[in-house]
Amino acid sequence: MNLAVIGMGRVGLVAAAALADFGHHVEGVEIAPERVAALERDQMPFYEPGLQELVHKNQQAGRLTFTSELARAVRHATAIFIAVGTEERATGEPNLAPLFAVSEQIVRCTHDYKVLLIKSTVPVGTAARLRAHLAGVAPGEFDIVSNPEFLREGSAIENFLRPDRVILGGNSEKALALAREVYRPLYLLETPIMVVDHESAELIKYATNAFLAMKITFINEMATLCEATGADVHAIARAVGLDKRIGPKFLHPGPGFGGSCLPKDTRTLAEMARQHGCSLPLVESVPVSNSTICPQLISKLEEKMGTLRGKTVCVLGLAYKTETDDVRESPALEFVRLALGAGARIRAHDPLANDEAAKALAGKKNDVSFHASPFTAAEGADAVAVLTEWNEFRSLDLAELRAQMRGNLLLDARNLYDPNDARRQGFEYLGRGRGTARSSSLVASAQG
Ligand code: UGA
Repeated sequence: MNLAVIGMGRVGLVAAAALADFGHHVEGVEIAPERVAALERDQMPFYEPGLQELVHKNQQAGRLTFTSELARAVRHATAIFIAVGTEERATGEPNLAPLFAVSEQIVRCTHDYKVLLIKSTVPVGTAARLRAHLAGVAPGEFDIVSNPEFLREGSAIENFLRPDRVILGGNSEKALALAREVYRPLYLLETPIMVVDHESAELIKYATNAFLAMKITFINEMATLCEATGADVHAIARAVGLDKRIGPKFLHPGPGFGGSCLPKDTRTLAEMARQHGCSLPLVESVPVSNSTICPQLISKLEEKMGTLRGKTVCVLGLAYKTETDDVRESPALEFVRLALGAGARIRAHDPLANDEAAKALAGKKNDVSFHASPFTAAEGADAVAVLTEWNEFRSLDLAELRAQMRGNLLLDARNLYDPNDARRQGFEYLGRGRGTARSSSLVASAQG
């Protein structure tokens, strides 16, 4: 099948490469010509494990091409995936202008039947509004299918090639049959393909992300309670997760959820409900609770150090999670901002996200330095705070780290280390709800 994917961002580029890998002919459309040129040379605009190899393989096989000419790509394609960003406006509402603009361009330049598949995350009612809007723009024959994407940064290729489910929303049998055909390679894996109405498809995406955010927030609240009671949050997570109705994934405590999706989608879901005259107090409380964690982490340091004023804190991990260079709404950056506000100087290291973090913290460059290794970042530090669960941090030589430092405080915001082991290496250890050390062998088993 000939397909076009509009927007070579994190969702669009992965979708284009994976759809080509299914055997389709895919043209990836990207407005920025320099990005197209880079993609043609197999240079990725962001880091995603396995993506470069998949793009290379499918370009070589002649199934994947890139262009900045939308009209050309659209003319050849039967189905067109739209994966443009919907980043929030200052008002907190998703910005749907790029989606509407691109869709208008598509229908203006086509004369035969096309199916538009919306991959971008959009509020309930968007497909219906878009349909009505486009009907007034051009006479072209087209249908819309809502096809939300559930891929996670860091494991996006695997998520696309072996998804838990595919959601197709719409009311045109012809378009839905064509969309099913696109995903036919997944039938072999017996992937559930759910066909629903537009509104349900749109809401499923927000409901999923808000539920995940709620699950993480729940275990983070339990970590706080464990600190007050001496219980071990990993024992709680393991036992609670063994209940099949709950499941073990997304029960790993940390510095709070971040990224470009969970925070935004939880806020949008609550706002969407308000606009429809409903209140969702549970969903509304999730970002509120999440925002209390970094201040708690700073208070923990202050309790031990008296004050952060004039102190040096080494921050290990700046990305919002492992296997990405993305720092959008990263709790690590929130931690850095709060620590700076409390008077600390920061020496930071992230295996991939130093550059992105430097851009995000450009206004603070006098008080933040970035380092190529955890050990140089730790030089002269009074405390080390580990904020991202990189594998290389798990296996860090703690004795060597400690030897670089002036102080001996280790704030392990992701519970990566065995507290007793850290103490043996000379650290004063602060984790998240670790209780007594008895069940600490269960370290880090819950994250999905
Ligand atoms: C999330 C969803 O997991 C995807 O299903 C969805 O498709 C995507 O948003 C999206 O809407 O595009 P992502 O933001 O890439 O994916 O990352 P997650 O793995 O969900 O992690 C989100 C945040 O939660 C990170 O800050 C992570 O560190 C944190 N987290 C996750 C925890 O603190 N504890 C956990 O147990 C799991």
